[in-house]
Amino acid sequence: MISPVLILLSSFLCHVAIAGRTCPKPDDLPFSIVVPLKMSYEPGEQVTYTCKPGYVSRGGMRRLTCPLSGMWPINTLRCTPRVCPFAGIIRNGVVRYTTFEYPNTITFTCNLGFYLNGTSSSQCNEQGIWSPALPVCAPVTCPPPPVPEFAVLKMYKPSTGNNSLFQDTAVFECLPRYAMFGNDTISCTTHGNWTELPKCREVKCPFPSRPDNGFVNYPANPALYYKDKAKYGCHDTFSLDGPDEVECTKLGNWSAQPSCKANCKLSVKKATVLFEGERVKIQEKFKNGMLHGQTISFYCKNKEKKCSYTEDARCNDGTIEIPKCFKEHSSFAFWKTDASEVKPCEDDLPSQS
Ligand SMILES: *[C@@H]1O[C@H](CO)[C@@H](O)[C@H](O)[C@H]1NC(C)=O
Ligand SMILES: *[C@@H]1O[C@H](CO)[C@@H](O)[C@H](O)[C@H]1NC(C)=O
Ligand SMILES: *[C@@H]1O[C@H](CO)[C@@H](O)[C@H](O)[C@H]1NC(C)=O
Ligand SMILES: *[C@@H]1O[C@H](CO)[C@@H](O)[C@H](O)[C@H]1NC(C)=O
Ligand SMILES: *[C@@H]1O[C@H](CO)[C@@H](O)[C@H](O)[C@H]1NC(C)=O
Repeated sequence: MISPVLILLSSFLCHVAIAGRTCPKPDDLPFSIVVPLKMSYEPGEQVTYTCKPGYVSRGGMRRLTCPLSGMWPINTLRCTPRVCPFAGIIRNGVVRYTTFEYPNTITFTCNLGFYLNGTSSSQCNEQGIWSPALPVCAPVTCPPPPVPEFAVLKMYKPSTGNNSLFQDTAVFECLPRYAMFGNDTISCTTHGNWTELPKCREVKCPFPSRPDNGFVNYPANPALYYKDKAKYGCHDTFSLDGPDEVECTKLGNWSAQPSCKANCKLSVKKATVLFEGERVKIQEKFKNGMLHGQTISFYCKNKEKKCSYTEDARCNDGTIEIPKCFKEHSSFAFWKTDASEVKPCEDDLPSQS
């Protein structure tokens, strides 16, 4: 005989065994989605794990069934980010990146003289494709340069077809009579334009005036312009103070205003002097006097130290001051030694060498 209580008990146990235990909410797996997602599942119910967009796993997906034990089996799904094609190098530029995986962004910069044709950043998208597409660094080009008014291109060579590349140059020249203001050389910039153009302006100079005691020659034209030249000269016994040729400058004046200055007659009849580093006899070298601007050095004696030193004298518009220390010997005083024959003083040596 079986006790009714026992029957009741065993049918209860039986029910529990057949119904089993429920499974809890399944574990989260990185970068994956669970369908359907609930707080609990009856034994026999199924869930499907798939990777989120942008992530992939080796067998695609995993289908798990809630067992009677109520414990989900171990899930071996591993979702990893999609990897976009290698993009670590860009010609004539630099790429900044950490990895090429979804959903990272990489950025681009181009070297000087190149510009970005495309966007400065690109993202590895859910499909594992760079979006937007990778840019390229294209060389900067400048169109043929404009030519300023009254100028001509003196030097220009396009280096790519009809265009110039970064740092290429072009050189201008002004037409005759025109002076250039600004740089004659322009260069192709990183912006694809040229540096500032120079300007050419007509420049006139006044007729030069004749110097006192001299003359000036210049072209017999109705007007004198930039780069025209004038030549100066002086009458006898005068010499030029300044260059003998001057030029009309871009400022509309002459490069110099030479004048005529009187030459010097020398009161000293005989002496050995220094002239342009050489010992010369004054009576020979300067028998016709000295030209304005010339300098000679006279020898003087230091009686205590029994040595000689020099002092300069310069001809300035007809006047020359003979140094006071200089003593001219009479031709009869043959027993006296001329200062130029005496050994130079010690402290005079360095200035002579
Ligand atoms: C710039 O990119 C566009 C589109 O990719 C292309 O058609 C064009 O030729 C490129 N230009 C240069 C100068 O590379
Ligand atoms: C240069 O320009 C000329 C005239 O504009 C044109 O005929 C020629 O095809 C261009 N050459 C190149 C290489 O672009
Ligand atoms: C003129 O420009 C060139 C390059 O464009 C530069 O190298 C040069 O120094 C400039 N000259 C002057 C006088 O500014
Ligand atoms: C060249 O282009 C840049 C940028 O557009 C501008 O700032 C600059 O003034 C331009 N230079 C000249 C000489 O036009
Ligand atoms: C030419 O004129 C400019 C400005 O008027 C002046 O600064 C310069 O000194 C002059 N040059 C000469 C050689 O006189």
